[in-house]
Amino acid sequence: MTGDGAQRSSTSGSGPALVTGAAGGIGAAVCRLLVDAGAPVALLDRDADALEAVVAELRARGGSAVAVPADVTDAGAVEKAVAAAEDALGPLATLANVAGVLHVGRVTEIDDTEWRRCFDVNTTGVMHACRAVGARLAERGGGSVVTVASNAAGVPRIGMAAYAASKAAAVALTRCLGLELAEQGVRANVVCPGSTDTAMLDAMGDLPADHAGLVRGSSETFKTGIPLGRVAAPEDVAEVVAFLASDAARHVTLQTVYVDGGASLGP
Ligand SMILES: NC(=O)c1ccc[n+]([C@@H]2O[C@H](COP(=O)([O-])OP(=O)(O)OC[C@H]3O[C@@H](n4cnc5c(N)ncnc54)[C@H](O)[C@@H]3O)[C@@H](O)[C@H]2O)c1
Repeated sequence: MTGDGAQRSSTSGSGPALVTGAAGGIGAAVCRLLVDAGAPVALLDRDADALEAVVAELRARGGSAVAVPADVTDAGAVEKAVAAAEDALGPLATLANVAGVLHVGRVTEIDDTEWRRCFDVNTTGVMHACRAVGARLAERGGGSVVTVASNAAGVPRIGMAAYAASKAAAVALTRCLGLELAEQGVRANVVCPGSTDTAMLDAMGDLPADHAGLVRGSSETFKTGIPLGRVAAPEDVAEVVAFLASDAARHVTLQTVYVDGGASLGP
């Protein structure tokens, strides 16, 4: 039996996509998978030079890609970048919120500026992109939003309160967006990575080169290890983002998928 909800299925498929944080490890991997699936991609990042390098790589592999450099904390700049993306590629079908920043510091020592920076980028930045793209998707009656948060959003971690809280807020706002726009056929889901081999992981410092400490975990900091026995590659996370963005996930919305090798023990 087919429910009438089938008529509200997303039209994301291989339509144009906007990816924030596209110059970073996970963002660039998402872009590669989307162009390989035939989607034109607009790449947004505050690092314009790194963005150009990724755009060149995508074009070299036959993809349609355009850079729309912007800082996600600037609402006006995000709106302009979204408009520029649609001018270049046509109506967007997909938004992937991947831009993010990390701050490490215990609650009793958190620096006010760092606390605000985490929320400005990881929460308000996601809101800016969701607002600008979500309104367009709703008006056209379909599309998909995927926000990359973190497993720290669901599991307490020593020294990661600012990051974890800002990511938990991003999870909540993405799921609210999904509920608000479901009637217009817009889906919104969250991917929560664990430790992933990118510049952000390197920035955490004190990691053994082979990531063995992360895999083992630490009883001193109550941090579980990684049951699947390795740190993620950016592609491991990107595959799930691309799936959720695609029509293969047409009946999936309001979901939060942990891609962390089991590190959070499946909350
Ligand atoms: N690497 C990990 O272990 C890990 C774990 C969990 C979640 N994540 C999340 O995955 C996402 C991607 O991170 P990554 O690992 O690829 O790190 P990364 O540092 O390689 O990439 C992050 C990208 O975001 C961009 N960015 C930061 N602030 C921005 C801003 N204000 N405006 C526009 N762009 C901005 C950076 O320039 C960079 O290109 C982030 O949201 C991060 O929090 C990463």
